Amino acid sequence: MHYLGAPWLVRESRDREEEPAKLIRSLDLERGQTVCDLGCGNGFYALRLAREVAPGGRVLAVDIQPEMLELLAERADARSVDNVRTILGGVTDPGLPEGAIDLVLLVDVYHEFSHPEQMLGEIRDSLKPRGRVALVEFRAEDPAVPIKPLHKMTQAQCLREFGANGFKLVGQYDALPWQHVLFFARDDSPLAAAPLRPWAPDASGEP
Ligand SMILES: C[S@@+](CC[C@H](N)C(=O)[O-])C[C@H]1O[C@@H](n2cnc3c(N)ncnc32)[C@H](O)[C@@H]1O
Repeated sequence: MHYLGAPWLVRESRDREEEPAKLIRSLDLERGQTVCDLGCGNGFYALRLAREVAPGGRVLAVDIQPEMLELLAERADARSVDNVRTILGGVTDPGLPEGAIDLVLLVDVYHEFSHPEQMLGEIRDSLKPRGRVALVEFRAEDPAVPIKPLHKMTQAQCLREFGANGFKLVGQYDALPWQHVLFFARDDSPLAAAPLRPWAPDASGEP
């Protein structure tokens, strides 16, 4: 997505359409953690993550478009958020430190990767042993989600691609209006693997 489309990422209707507060709660973040918003755009999620891990924690906000990072930095300054570090990534390497990240959040970006294999390898290396990736993509199985098919993914696609690149499924959250949330860890992580609950029209991950 081109940076000229950035206003769409902070549109007024987004709270209703995506319910970001629910997504943030589902991530089980703790103060002091190091989290990464990969493909952060202008920071809709990065700024929310920053609140969750403060004090003591930080957000590494990665994008391949410097203009997006500038927009994010302006929004962070305007809100006096000082625990977000921007990183200009490359298409094969997000430039993350090794073994350092508690959670990598990927919202509506994985399907845009031009080099997914290399990116997944780098993301895997960046995780702590109990670190997780939260993959958030619009549901391709769901005709009610009003997004072009090119920008949607099925659960099966997500599982196939992460499974083939050294990850295992460790959880999922099914209560967002439009998006899948699948949690992955390194396949050698001490976190227990979880079976997939297939998405169904009446599925709800609410406890
Ligand atoms: C649709 S936007 C989503 C932005 C943000 N995650 C959100 O939900 O508001 C996708 C973003 O991913 C970025 N992107 C695409 N490929 C990338 C890559 N390989 N590494 C980092 N960012 C990437 C784009 O530049 C764009 O800003």
